Amino acid sequence: MNDVVTDSQSAAAILPGTPPQILGPFYPFMHTPTDSGDLTGGGRALGTVLYLSGRILARDGQPVAGASVEVWQANAGGRYTHPNDDNTAAPLDENFHGFAVTTTDGEGRYAFKTVRPAAYPAAPGRWRPAHIHFCVTSRHERLVTQMYFKGDAYNETDSWLNSASRKDLLIVDPTPAVGKEPNALAVTFDIVLMRA
Ligand SMILES: [Fe+2]
Repeated sequence: MNDVVTDSQSAAAILPGTPPQILGPFYPFMHTPTDSGDLTGGGRALGTVLYLSGRILARDGQPVAGASVEVWQANAGGRYTHPNDDNTAAPLDENFHGFAVTTTDGEGRYAFKTVRPAAYPAAPGRWRPAHIHFCVTSRHERLVTQMYFKGDAYNETDSWLNSASRKDLLIVDPTPAVGKEPNALAVTFDIVLMRA
């Protein structure tokens, strides 16, 4: 049987899919995600404010509208609001809501205001680099992944990041957030679904 590839089909597969990552042990199943877009409690949370935004895309570059985008993360000290997180050396932050959800707009865009998370000890002698967890759900796919930060020394040793087929697709490099609070950072993290 001949495979007939049309121009539209060959042009469709152009973007690499975002690699999946583990859900991890700290998914906040016992909490309700905030849908306000603001994890910082109106800017009261400790740490460096991070404006996190991006687009959910199909492999042909088309935006995925109406996708659910969930994020969860440690606070600026490296602690999750989760009963299994026993990293008591890092205090909880009552103003930080480390679990949020939103829905992409017609151009596939999402946006959150959060804080830059810290690295945390995953086991004796083993640290995880700073990261933010994502779960993206479209009509045809659910992708669980993690976003990491350029320059984190633990990026070199983290088994989960280094298990990714393209770790470069999971590492972002924040820049100063223009027109926002002093020292705030901004970052863009686009996510490409394989079967959007
Ligand atoms: Fe984590």
